[in-house]
Amino acid sequence: MTVTAPVRTGEALVPGISPQVYGLADFQRISAQVHAQAGIVLSDKKRMLVYSRLAPLLRRTNSQSFGEFLDQVEHDPALATRMIEALTTNHTYFNRESHHYDHFAHTLRPELLHRLNQSEPVRIWSAGCSSGEEIWTLMMVLLGPSQQEGKRIARQDIVALASDLASHAVNAGMAATYEAAALEAVPEALRKAWTTTEGGKVTIGPEPRSLVRFRQLNLLGPWPIKGAFDVIFCRNVMIYFDTPTKEKLVWRFAEQLRPGGYLYIGHSERVSGQAEELLELVGPTVYRRRA
Ligand SMILES: C[S@@+](CC[C@H](N)C(=O)[O-])C[C@H]1O[C@@H](n2cnc3c(N)ncnc32)[C@H](O)[C@@H]1O
Repeated sequence: MTVTAPVRTGEALVPGISPQVYGLADFQRISAQVHAQAGIVLSDKKRMLVYSRLAPLLRRTNSQSFGEFLDQVEHDPALATRMIEALTTNHTYFNRESHHYDHFAHTLRPELLHRLNQSEPVRIWSAGCSSGEEIWTLMMVLLGPSQQEGKRIARQDIVALASDLASHAVNAGMAATYEAAALEAVPEALRKAWTTTEGGKVTIGPEPRSLVRFRQLNLLGPWPIKGAFDVIFCRNVMIYFDTPTKEKLVWRFAEQLRPGGYLYIGHSERVSGQAEELLELVGPTVYRRRA
């Protein structure tokens, strides 16, 4: 294949945007920019996926070709952000990798409740939270199945940060309303205590909502964060990054944890590099910062 060869699509053509106007050189330009700004690696296998995710944006910006669109992106940072957001993969669901929530409930929750009883703050971060399913599951597990106890917990000094690069994901998380079927994976007692159902939709209740701050944040950029975290969940985010990016990020997470704090990562991820000095493996894809 030459550098100007159009992608062979077969299916998934976007009306008005011919794949003839999308060459390998365009794909390479896009993947270089996405890697530089967001750390995301787009392998050649993602070439068609990139076409189908960006073609609607080309249509909205009246671009006749990917080359023309990319020229606009170069001079328009807001459009560059929209391009990168469109290329994020936001797949997530409630109670994903449930062993992490079991570990949190049995090991960490008692420690955190103890800290709260000593009037110490509790800080939690879902980094790469997508549309919120991860942080809401975690908040329901933290509050527990008893409304009476959970309401008492929610009045204490807890702040949970939920951040993602993609504004559409952050907005969905903040809206906190999901199809009822999506919540079926959450244990019934937690669902009953902390959600309300209406017209086939489930909304997260006021107590979990009072604990969470959603923010749009690129993990590769500066973190406007004060203080250390007790828990960081960063799951199924680093799978899109190359090894140097992952190692730098995991080192920053380790430094951001208080001694004894926990880092949960996705089932196919592992900690490597300098952060291994600070983090010990204490369960499947669960790490603890050494004291
Ligand atoms: C597959 S979702 C994972 C969601 C959730 N953590 C889970 O495990 O279900 C990956 C998320 O990482 C976000 N992401 C990718 N690169 C990022 C970056 N550089 N900074 C912040 N978020 C990023 C994407 O926008 C996406 O919502």
